[in-house]
Amino acid sequence: MVAVVGATGAVGREALKRLHERAFPVKELRALASSRSAGESLAFGTGSVVVQELKQGAEQGVDVAILAADAATSREWAPRFVAAGAVVVDNSSAFRMDPAVPLVVPEINAHLLAARPALVANPNCTTIVSLMAAAPLHRLFGLTRLTACSYQAVSGAGLPAMLELEEQARQWVAGQPMQAKVFRRPTLFNVFPHDSALLDDGSNEEEQKLVRESRRILDLPDLRVSATCTRVPVRRAHAVALHMEFERKVDLARAREALSCTAGVRVIDERAGSPADPLMAAEGDDVLVSRLRIDAGGEDGHALAVWAVGDQLLKGAALNAIQIAEHLL
Ligand SMILES: NC(=O)c1ccc[n+]([C@@H]2O[C@H](COP(=O)([O-])OP(=O)(O)OC[C@H]3O[C@@H](n4cnc5c(N)ncnc54)[C@H](OP(=O)(O)O)[C@@H]3O)[C@@H](O)[C@H]2O)c1
Repeated sequence: MVAVVGATGAVGREALKRLHERAFPVKELRALASSRSAGESLAFGTGSVVVQELKQGAEQGVDVAILAADAATSREWAPRFVAAGAVVVDNSSAFRMDPAVPLVVPEINAHLLAARPALVANPNCTTIVSLMAAAPLHRLFGLTRLTACSYQAVSGAGLPAMLELEEQARQWVAGQPMQAKVFRRPTLFNVFPHDSALLDDGSNEEEQKLVRESRRILDLPDLRVSATCTRVPVRRAHAVALHMEFERKVDLARAREALSCTAGVRVIDERAGSPADPLMAAEGDDVLVSRLRIDAGGEDGHALAVWAVGDQLLKGAALNAIQIAEHLL
C-alpha cells in the first residue's frame, strides 16, 4: 500500500501522476488530505481515487508513505507511519536538518539510502535544482563557493498560489483590480523577494534552506554559500543563476561534458537556439542547464556561471521523492 499525504496539493497531485507514469508498484493507493477535501475524487492512472482524511489509523498497512503536506503534519505523522512499518519520504522542511534523517538527491548522494533508512527527507526545491547543476561540477573541480540567485515559480507556494496567479491574469484582462491573498501583493507583472519569513540576519528562510541544505547534501559543511531568492510570475519551474568558485582551474569543455552525462540534467546549448526557461522545463523530469561560461568575477579561471531551470513540483519535490522511494523498494 502506498499513501500520499497532501494528495490534493500541488506536490501531491504530481506524486499521483508520476507514481503511475513510472509504474511504481502501487497495489493499493491511499490518498490522504485534511478533512476539508475528504471525499473528493482525484485522477490516478486510468481511474480515480477518493481522498480520505488523515486521521488515526491512516498509517496502518502502509508500505511507502510520501508526505506532501505542511511541516507540522509531517512532524506528527512521519513517526506514526514509521512506527506502523512504512518507509517515509517527507517533502516538508520538518526533518531536513535532522542529523538522523538523510537528506537525499539520488543523483548526488544515493549512497545514504544503502542503510535503508525508514525516514528520508526530500530537500528544498531550489536547492535540488541548484545542486543538480553544481554537483557534477563540484566532482570535477572541487566547489569552494556557491552563489545562487533564484527566480521561483509561484507554485512553489502550493496550488492556491498557482490559482491566484491565473486569477490575477483573468482580472487584469477584465480590467479588474488584482486580488492577492497568498502573497499579499500582486504577482502578475511583479517580482519580489521570497515570501518566507525574514530572519534576524536579514536573510529569509528560503535562502537559509539553500545555504544549509547545500552544505549537507554536498557534504561540505564549510562551503561558502550566498543566496538571494525571489518570486517571479511563473506558474511552475524555478530558475537559478549560479556562480561557482572551485579549488582547481576549470575546463569549460570538461564541465559541459560532465553536465551532459549527468542523469537528470539536460544541457540546452543557447548557441544552438534559446537558453532554457521555465516553460521548457515545466512538466519535465530534467533540470535544464544553459549559459555555461567562465565567471570573470572569480579568481582567474577558477569560476563558472550557469543558468539552471527545473520543475520544482517534479525534480524539486514529487519526482525526487519517488526516486528515493524507488531506491528503498
Ligand atoms: N510546491 C512546491 O514546489 C514544493 C517543493 C518542495 C517541497 N514542497 C513541500 O511540499 C509540501 C506540500 O506543498 P504543496 O506546494 O503541494 O502545498 P499545497 O498545494 O498547499 O498542498 C498542501 C496539501 O497538504 C494538505 N494538508 C494541509 N493540512 C493538512 C492536515 N492537517 N492534514 C492532512 N493534510 C493536510 C492539503 O490538503 P487539503 O486539500 O485538505 O487542504 C493539501 O493536500 C509542503 O511541505 C511544501 O513545503 C513544496
